[in-house]
Amino acid sequence: MNDDLTQKNLLGLITDEERILIERLTEEMPLKGAIVEAGSFFGASTKAFVEGLKRNKSLTTGEKQGRIHAFDKFEYGHWVHPRFIPRGLLQKGDSFLSYFEENLSADMDYVTLHIGDVIEAPQWEGGSIDILFLDICKTPKINDAVQDLFFPHLKPGSLLIQQDYIASTLNIWLYAAMKRLEHCFVRKEHCSVNSVVYECIQTPNTEDLQNASACLMSHSERIDLSQQVLEEWEEIDYRAAEQIQYAILHYRKAVAMNRYGIRPVKAEDEPIERTDFAPNLPF
Ligand SMILES: C[S@@+](CC[C@H](N)C(=O)[O-])C[C@H]1O[C@@H](n2cnc3c(N)ncnc32)[C@H](O)[C@@H]1O
Repeated sequence: MNDDLTQKNLLGLITDEERILIERLTEEMPLKGAIVEAGSFFGASTKAFVEGLKRNKSLTTGEKQGRIHAFDKFEYGHWVHPRFIPRGLLQKGDSFLSYFEENLSADMDYVTLHIGDVIEAPQWEGGSIDILFLDICKTPKINDAVQDLFFPHLKPGSLLIQQDYIASTLNIWLYAAMKRLEHCFVRKEHCSVNSVVYECIQTPNTEDLQNASACLMSHSERIDLSQQVLEEWEEIDYRAAEQIQYAILHYRKAVAMNRYGIRPVKAEDEPIERTDFAPNLPF
C-alpha cells in the first residue's frame, strides 16, 4: 500500500481545510447523539471525526466508542482515481474496505461500520444525530434515501455538513433540496471548496422530505431552485458562487446532451453498451 496512506493527512477526497473544520466542529460540539458520516472511502473524513472526538470533553472515553457511524459500500469502480488504487489492482465491485481499515487501524474502536448500499440500509435505530456528514449524494436516488434515513433524526442544534456543495459536479439536486428545506436549516459556515455546514433549526417532517425529494423534481425545477441558490451565494461568496454556476452549467449541458442523444467522449477501453449513443444519466 502507498506510504502516503500512513501519514496524518490521509489520502482522500477532502481538503486540509475540511479536515480541520471537521476536527474543530467535532471537538467543540456538546455530544449526546451520534455522528454519522455517509461516504467514507479510505477514511480521511472518518479520521478527522476521530481526531475531533478524541479531543471532545463532553463524553468519557467509554462513551466515545463506536460513536462515529461510517456508511459506505467500499466497492471499487472506475470512479476511483488511479492515484488511490492503480488500475488493474482491483476489479469493479471488489471491496476496498481493507484500505479504510488499515488507515483507521488504531482508531476503529471509535467507529461503527455500516457496509453496503446506503439506499438499502435498514432504518436508522441509532437515536438522534448530532453531526451528519454527507459525501455520498452522487445521484438523486441516494440523496433522497439519505434524507429519508437520517434527516428525521436531526434535532435543533444538530449540524449537517454537505460535502458535495461548493463543487462543479452535477449534483445540483443538493442545492434544490436544501432550498426546499430552508425553513429547517441555517447556513453556518463553509470551506473555500466543497463543504457547507448547516445548523438544524427544525427537524424536517415527512411533508418537508417529500417536498425536498430530488427524484420528484423535474430537471427544470432542479435548475430553477439552483439558480435561486446561486443568486444567494453571489452575495455570500463569489468564488463559491462560481463553482455553483459551473455545476448548473454542467448539469444543463448533460441534460441537453442526453435529450439530443449526443455521446460524451469516453476512454478507449470502455465498452460501448448502447447503440443509440445517448449517455445513461445518473439522475
Ligand atoms: C467522494 S467519496 C468519499 C470521500 C471521503 N469522505 C474522504 O474523506 O475521502 C464517496 C463515497 O461514497 C460511497 N458511495 C457512493 N454511493 C454509495 C451508495 N449508494 N452506498 C454506499 N456508499 C456509496 C463510495 O463508495 C465512496 O467511497
